[in-house]
Amino acid sequence: MRVLCFGSLNIDYVYQVPCFVRKGETLAATELQSFSGGKGLNQSVALARAGIKTFHAGAIGEDGAFLAEELRAAGVDTSFVACLHDVRTGHAVIQKTPEGDNCILLYGGANRAVTHEQIDRTLAHFSAPDVLVAQNEISEPGYLLERAKARGMRIALNPSPMDETLRPLLPLSDFLLLNEIEASQLLGCDAHADPGDMAEELRKSLPATAIVLTLGENGSIYAARDGMIRCPAERVTAVDTTAAGDTYTGFFLAGILNGFDAARAMRFASAAAAIAVTRPGAAPSIPTRDEVLARVDA
Ligand code: RIB
Repeated sequence: MRVLCFGSLNIDYVYQVPCFVRKGETLAATELQSFSGGKGLNQSVALARAGIKTFHAGAIGEDGAFLAEELRAAGVDTSFVACLHDVRTGHAVIQKTPEGDNCILLYGGANRAVTHEQIDRTLAHFSAPDVLVAQNEISEPGYLLERAKARGMRIALNPSPMDETLRPLLPLSDFLLLNEIEASQLLGCDAHADPGDMAEELRKSLPATAIVLTLGENGSIYAARDGMIRCPAERVTAVDTTAAGDTYTGFFLAGILNGFDAARAMRFASAAAAIAVTRPGAAPSIPTRDEVLARVDA
């Protein structure tokens, strides 16, 4: 069994701001830092640091070679990362507040130049019981999921950012990992709706899919045919929540693929995410399996 994460690679530009900029406002940032990121890259790094043999597929421009290097340094196989000559690497403009909260503006760049041909060429190397991990920051996510399913791969989908094109694809997923904003977009309800009710609604509408709803400092909920489980988040002082969800996704899936039951995989993932938010940046903030196991009896 191998894991293929087919997803975005971004250069993250993180602007420290006193609060998020509002409509019509001009706001001065107090600091600018740059990190490797992208939900796809972050999830590959998390899977690899959690001990899973991981292959990453996606696309960068010539300015993004260091992102593939970061993946390799984490132990990820980058044979399926295309370097394109006529397009910039994707990037994210991230506002970060003193509380560690963030909001993210994406420029897709090379991530939006993924083609059917690249997908076919990559998937030719994978089949059952391999696992596809996917998000919604590259072009052609529908084709990717349908072709992977046709090859018998299991699918873990993080529908982020959520949009209507994903809706018909959701039943293809064996695992759907999302936060409360994405869940509320999917269900057409308020983001402050009761998370247990949201998880239950998702479970009912996707009976063959295990739902993992992450709630930041309020923990996470697993809802599937075998029941519903809640896991609290550890209390930590967050400096940067970027990639906390990606860390959770990678470590949760790694736990499941290592034979953990859902409750144990949630504790493992929560501990990993709790460490990640105490560190700056996206991929650089993701801990190793040993760091997580030293903290939690998962
Ligand atoms: O989930 C965090 C990630 O979202 C960032 O690294 C940014 O690149 C965006 O893809």
